[in-house]
Amino acid sequence: MPRADTAHQQTPGNRDGKSLKLELKRTADGSWTLYRPEIDEPYHSVHGAMAESMHVFVQEGLLAVADRTLVRVLEVGFGTGLNAWLTWKQQPRPAVQYTAYEPYPLGLELVSLWNRHNRFLGIERLHSGPWNAWEAVDDTFALRKIEDKIEGLDQGGLVDRYDLVYHDAFAPEVQPELWTPNFFAHVYRIMRPGGVLVTYCAKGAVRRAMMEAGFDVERRPGPPGKREMLRCRVPEKRELPETR
Ligand SMILES: C[S@@+](CC[C@H](N)C(=O)[O-])C[C@H]1O[C@@H](n2cnc3c(N)ncnc32)[C@H](O)[C@@H]1O
Repeated sequence: MPRADTAHQQTPGNRDGKSLKLELKRTADGSWTLYRPEIDEPYHSVHGAMAESMHVFVQEGLLAVADRTLVRVLEVGFGTGLNAWLTWKQQPRPAVQYTAYEPYPLGLELVSLWNRHNRFLGIERLHSGPWNAWEAVDDTFALRKIEDKIEGLDQGGLVDRYDLVYHDAFAPEVQPELWTPNFFAHVYRIMRPGGVLVTYCAKGAVRRAMMEAGFDVERRPGPPGKREMLRCRVPEKRELPETR
């Protein structure tokens, strides 16, 4: 992905004070993202952080399952909380139970610094609450942030759990293990029939991995700067695949 133009600030990042080097970057729609120089990856599209999150996750994801009274979301990579915040603020919307995995939680200081550029009203609230526990953000939005890699997700009793998955990991070149047929087969098992998974990624290999896992896959129009993105759905009548 090309780098955003901007003045950037280097700052120690994560919640436990370990040094995660991150830079603040302005993106093409005027919203700001974070950038991890050591892997050369931004948290959002440099063509528009806010525009990408809104398009890929809310419009193509949440709105595709908005006829349900309760939507149980699973996010791969909580990061700045932008997808969670946009989902929370979307109106009208169904009630949402939002579970997000994040092995490298951002410190509040960094979130505030980033949000001084963005002014996403109330987003700090999503960071300041507890980790590894449910919290009621309001009457219709519950949040559970889990400080772990998504690979730590317990498959045990979780079959048929989620209506909607926001797959927002770093790119396949950086985290290939999160884009394999086996990974998607695990996710498929914990999703409800008719459930939807969306991602910004449009690569053919990823599309084929989703299909191999059993999903019905669609290429959808992408956010600004990208022709396509992927949306896939668990068939209403599905067979559970074998997972390795
Ligand atoms: C492309 S960024 C997106 C972040 C977030 N959705 C946002 O809007 O800011 C990818 C995120 O996945 C997190 N991540 C990295 N490895 C992960 C893993 N194994 N499981 C879950 N999340 C992971 C990163 O720390 C980062 O926050």
